[in-house]
Formats: sequence, C-alpha cells, structure tokens
Amino acid sequence: MKKSDVIQLIFHNKLPVEPAREKGLAFAPTNIALCKYWGKRDSELNLPMTGSLSIALPDKGALTSLMLHDNGCDVITLNGKELPGDSAFVLRTTQFLDLFRPERKWFLKIDINMNIPVAAGLASSAAGFASLVSALNDLFGWKLSRRELSILARLGSGSASRSLWTGFVEWHAGVQADGMDCYAEQLKDEWPGLMIGIVSVAEGEKPVSSREAMQRSVDTSTLYTAWPRKVARDLVILRQALHVKNFSLLGGTAESNALNMHATMISSWPPVCYFLPETIAMMHKVWDLRRSGLEIYFTQDAGPNLKLLFLENDKDKIFEHFPQVEMIQLFE
Ligand code: DP6
Repeated sequence: MKKSDVIQLIFHNKLPVEPAREKGLAFAPTNIALCKYWGKRDSELNLPMTGSLSIALPDKGALTSLMLHDNGCDVITLNGKELPGDSAFVLRTTQFLDLFRPERKWFLKIDINMNIPVAAGLASSAAGFASLVSALNDLFGWKLSRRELSILARLGSGSASRSLWTGFVEWHAGVQADGMDCYAEQLKDEWPGLMIGIVSVAEGEKPVSSREAMQRSVDTSTLYTAWPRKVARDLVILRQALHVKNFSLLGGTAESNALNMHATMISSWPPVCYFLPETIAMMHKVWDLRRSGLEIYFTQDAGPNLKLLFLENDKDKIFEHFPQVEMIQLFE
C-alpha cells in the first residue's frame, strides 16, 4: 500500500484541486507524548506498532498560510525567511504536496510561522504537517473531518496525527493495512493546573533522527519485544490517571514510559543514546526533588532535553530549582 493509495481512499478518486478561496490558513499545536510512539508496523504509511497518548501545547505550534502561485515551484518561507529550494525542509514538504498533485500542475507560496522552541527538542514536524494539511483543506475547501486530516498528517510524520487537537489526544494503532483505522482522537478530560516546563540543556543537530532511531530499536533491540506490552499497560493507566486527576500516577507513568523507550534505543545496535551528561544530571535533580516531597516528573523524546511535568501549585518551587524553565499552561 502506497501513500498515494491512501489519498485515493480519502478522496474517493476525486481530489478537488480548484481553490475554494484565495488563501488557506491553519494553526496546529505541537504535542508531547506521555505514552510514546516508538516503532512502525508500516514505514511507508507511518503506521505505528502501538497506540500513543499526548498532550498538546496549546499556544506553541505552526501557523501555515498557503496561496497558489505560478512560478513553477513551491516557495517556502519559515519565520519570515525564504528557505533554499534544496533544503531538507523544502524537499520533505514538496514531496508531501506531490501526493496531492500527481501531475505537479500547481504550486504554492507557503508561509510557516513556528513559535516552537525547536532547539529545546520540541517536535516541529508534528505541528508543521498538521497545520499544512489543515491549511490545504481550507484552501481547496475539501471539508475533510479531523479524523481524515489526522490520517493525512500521519503520512507526513507519525506524531503529526496527534497535532489536530488541543488537550489530551490518543492515537489508535489500528490493524488495517491501509491505516484507515489508524488516526488520533481528542480525549474529553481536561486538567487545568497541569503544566509542562521546557528546559534546554543542549542545542544542536540530533546525531540520529527519531525516524532512524525507532527503526533501529525495532530491528535490533531485544528489549523491543517488551515495548508493546509496556505501552498497552501505560495507556490504560494514563487514561485512568487523567480521568481521576491522579498526578503521581500520570507523571510516574509518563516518566517510566519515556525511560523504557530510551532503554530500547540504548540496547539497539549500533546504540542510540540521546542522554548527555546534562540530561542525566537533570534526571537526578528531578529524582532528588521528588524524594524531598516535590511532585515533579519528566519525559524525554528523541533528544537530550527533558520536559518537566508538574502542577500549577508548585510553579514557584519549580522556578526556584529551574530558573531557566519555560512554563506552559496546558489548559486555560
Ligand atoms: C520520540 O513522529 O518524528 O517524539 O513518523 O518517522 O516522522 P516519523 O517519527 P516522529 O517520531 C516521534 C517520536 C517521539 C515520540 C512521540 O512523539 O510519540
């Protein structure tokens, strides 16, 4: 099954390419997984081995605006700067757009504004692809449901399937080969008072992309066989924890899930280790603080930075211990 087959399924072989309005515009928030997506059952369609569950950062994300233009190529501006046509970002975006224009008959002027601290290891591709499909939907008047947009965003990047909503979002792994049962959904629960803190311990390019690292875990880590069981259990606990607002359960499960994901990477060959000395030092600081009675947990994605989880009531104490933290309120 190819990505283009999924497009046919979604549009029933009739892909509208006449713009419905002059400009397409959409914002999508980035998301942080509390139960991670790690490993694919189909790498062409980005179908995951397991489900996952995330929380959106409501004001951090990508605002994408699109207009047709007839220069014979797409022009992409990111935060006000035009990107070179041969940059990895442009190539990845153009390839994705080609799915919707098999004959390359139209081109776009694309303006993307991201307020995501990319250097701090927040996924920009999730918000990027989610806002791009939503802006295409707006420009061409496709009138697709969020579920369909989630499926399309997934074809760009797996975690983008969760970036169509704010709040808690669960992405279902599905079992079908065409991935039509593999989409995300918003969970009803809200949690005012839940906060995330972003602390940047190191900047710079990742040595290995998450795409490559997860494939290596699947292919070579003997610990990977335990991962689907761990996720199945964590998903049940997380759903319950956010429903009854048990913060220790939520934080502990998210932290343990992230550490298990990293364990599959470290046990891969060649090993993938995103931990830097600063990462480990910060983990110990979190564990020490927790031992002293402060309810603080962390999660970590495919990079050296930690994202702290805590409650609004503890905000001042968290500031004292991490003066450089950027605090994000997850619910109004
Ligand atoms: C560690 O969604 O970037 O952030 O589907 O290959 O584009 P591709 O991978 P991507 O992987 C995200 C991995 C993660 C965990 C998560 O967000 O669930």
